[in-house]
Amino acid sequence: MEGTITISQIMLRDHQKIGTLLANLNNGMNKDHQKVLELFHEFIWTLEKHFFIEERIVLTDYNPPDEKNSAAISNLLREHDHMLKLSRKLEEDLIKNKKVDISQLQKMLIKHRDYENEVLYPMLDLELNKTQKKTIVQKVTDYYKW
Ligand SMILES: [Fe+2]
Ligand SMILES: [Fe+2]
Repeated sequence: MEGTITISQIMLRDHQKIGTLLANLNNGMNKDHQKVLELFHEFIWTLEKHFFIEERIVLTDYNPPDEKNSAAISNLLREHDHMLKLSRKLEEDLIKNKKVDISQLQKMLIKHRDYENEVLYPMLDLELNKTQKKTIVQKVTDYYKW
């Protein structure tokens, strides 16, 4: 029943997964170094895939109708870039055995996620046509089958 899945539904699953990984990371921060590195690596890997899906699948068919929407999308893309850079820096520090603080990254991610859940995805579900949405859901599903 792919046709009935909305962009919100399919992307919310991803957000939940990232939230769980971040919580695991928070709980595991005082555990052994190797374990923290493994958790962090899984977190970055999942985050990169998610941003790729948003940038290359979810947002490609959307033409912002006005300046305000266009600026909001640009801002989201900038935040992706910033959060990936920050994540990679934290991973580098972890590899060097430095103490890291993930609270800033966590804060940014939560704000970004909430905006997408509450504003972006519902708006896309409203503004894209049925065929566009079906294509997006199909592509995201295929991506996860690889
Ligand atoms: Fe995003
Ligand atoms: Fe997202």
